[in-house]
Amino acid sequence: MKAVYIREFGGPENLEIREVEDPGDPEGNEVLVRVAAAALNRADLLQRKGFYPAPEGYPDRIPGLEFAGTVVACGPSAGRFRESDRVFGITAGGAQAEFVLTREDHLAPVPSNLELVDAAAVPEAFITAHDAVWTQGGLKEGETLLIHAVGSGVGLAALQIAKAKGNRVIGTSRTAEKIEDCKKFGLDVAIDTGEDSGFSAQIGNSVDVILDLVGASYFQENLKSLAPKGRLMLVGLVGGRKAEFDLGTALTKRLTIKGTVLRSRSDEEKASATAAFARDILPLLESGSIVPNVDRVFAAEDVREAHEYLESNESFGKVVLSMGNGQ
Ligand SMILES: NC(=O)c1ccc[n+]([C@@H]2O[C@H](COP(=O)([O-])OP(=O)(O)OC[C@H]3O[C@@H](n4cnc5c(N)ncnc54)[C@H](OP(=O)(O)O)[C@@H]3O)[C@@H](O)[C@H]2O)c1
Repeated sequence: MKAVYIREFGGPENLEIREVEDPGDPEGNEVLVRVAAAALNRADLLQRKGFYPAPEGYPDRIPGLEFAGTVVACGPSAGRFRESDRVFGITAGGAQAEFVLTREDHLAPVPSNLELVDAAAVPEAFITAHDAVWTQGGLKEGETLLIHAVGSGVGLAALQIAKAKGNRVIGTSRTAEKIEDCKKFGLDVAIDTGEDSGFSAQIGNSVDVILDLVGASYFQENLKSLAPKGRLMLVGLVGGRKAEFDLGTALTKRLTIKGTVLRSRSDEEKASATAAFARDILPLLESGSIVPNVDRVFAAEDVREAHEYLESNESFGKVVLSMGNGQ
């Protein structure tokens, strides 16, 4: 089969489309999926540079953490899907290929109102957002959510879910145009952190949960912005890994600071996050209350340009690779 391949770790010029070995026939509860489209993630950029090796059992040179496609074959004990069913899901690598082999409990059915190329933009962003803010962060009715890098793939997913559930949402971005565009999704308070990252003065102790996709550079301001018993969910570190902060703030406000990652979780934990997504998010997609956030679609052959585009920080929502296997 054809797949996106990292020839050598380094810049985007090392990416190519290469003929690689097929994943093989499904065994046990596995399902073989013909991939129609697979979205990009920051993790792909790191993997390409050699900084984020794939977990054991997943290809080190073929990136791809999420996909949408059609079922080609099911293992003997896989009973949830049938041949030709449209499915999407997360995996720990290898999704930017013609075929991907995965467990049936890591898949969800694609709602009939979505094209596969749009559906490919959903799993990683919406599962990450839903898992971090609701399953782990416990955002409740009437509470306020602060989302950093709100125009990102994960940020827009969280914004849409929160507005569908009726929460008040504050969002930051360094790009004025992105926060303007987020207002169309119902963003209540938009903060431009382009010139000045001191957002806490505009928020003042009022936030119950923070979905932090930025990390170190916002850490101190995050602690100041949280209400008593607030929860800080650390999900992305594009703004650095090391921070100095006043532990006293965490103590007096009785804050929870929690880090989370999807890729390295056990199969069971991924199945559980996928099941929660299917239960809570699929109905919202089916009804059209939330939509996939596709910024641009590139042909798989143009994967180098796709990486450059994601790396430029210009994207609003997701960057998708079409694998040329139809809708
Ligand atoms: N833990 C997990 O399981 C998990 C899963 C998925 C993603 N992630 C992480 O979550 C983060 C968001 O992912 P994504 O796919 O949604 O990202 P994305 O769509 O690529 O968007 C990232 C955005 O972050 C902003 N940004 C970049 N560098 C920044 C900096 N130094 N300071 C402040 N903002 C900065 C940029 O927007 P503006 O500058 O225009 O605002 C950029 O467009 C990434 O760090 C990713 O690795 C984690």
